Amino acid sequence: MLNVVVCVSGGGTNLQAILDAVRDGKITNTKIIGVVSNNPTAKALERAEKAGVPGICMSPKEYPDRAAFNHAFTEKMKEWNPDLIVLAGFLVKIPEEMTSAFSGRIINIHPSLIPSFCGVGFYGLKVHEEALRRGVKVTGATVHFVNDGMDEGPIIAQKAVLVQDNDTPEVLQRRVMEQAEWLLLPQAIDDIANDRIEIVNGQVRRK
Ligand code: GAR
Repeated sequence: MLNVVVCVSGGGTNLQAILDAVRDGKITNTKIIGVVSNNPTAKALERAEKAGVPGICMSPKEYPDRAAFNHAFTEKMKEWNPDLIVLAGFLVKIPEEMTSAFSGRIINIHPSLIPSFCGVGFYGLKVHEEALRRGVKVTGATVHFVNDGMDEGPIIAQKAVLVQDNDTPEVLQRRVMEQAEWLLLPQAIDDIANDRIEIVNGQVRRK
């Protein structure tokens, strides 16, 4: 059984997709043991509560400095000791302390086709604003393992989504979620829970 902690910051629609997929048997061999939000008012925490999953808030703002937060955050994760940490719209940089303690056991969903529109400053709606500003015709989403870089770890899965004339960032964000994110992230968790992927020479391969 894969024990999973999900980290969130906002609406939690990706968290909801995961919870629904576990409930519906689309993700197997998996238990969501906890949800961490850096934002006390995140709707994601309500979603966790509704699903009967323990949710906590840990915000960098509650600590004297980032190092103190990073340490407390990592210690909390060690206490929960999940097999997998899923960043589902989590907008806090994962500290090196945590990537080394959970090496190969943290994944993230990003709302673009990495390496486009990723890295520092590219998160949430900003990603879609930039995609529209650049005038790309295809965008999408990526699930990847997390290393110490920003959106740089081995790519697990990607799905393309067409941009349409007159898209607003909000409309495009919603389409990328519906057509890519809410499918890719549960699928990646199911693949990990059922031992279907491995990292070979820094790249993800199907077994
Ligand atoms: C999602 O689009 C996710 O891909 C993005 O934030 C949104 C969270 O929505 N994540 C990033 O931008 C990370 N760099 P949600 O809270 O409704 O799942």
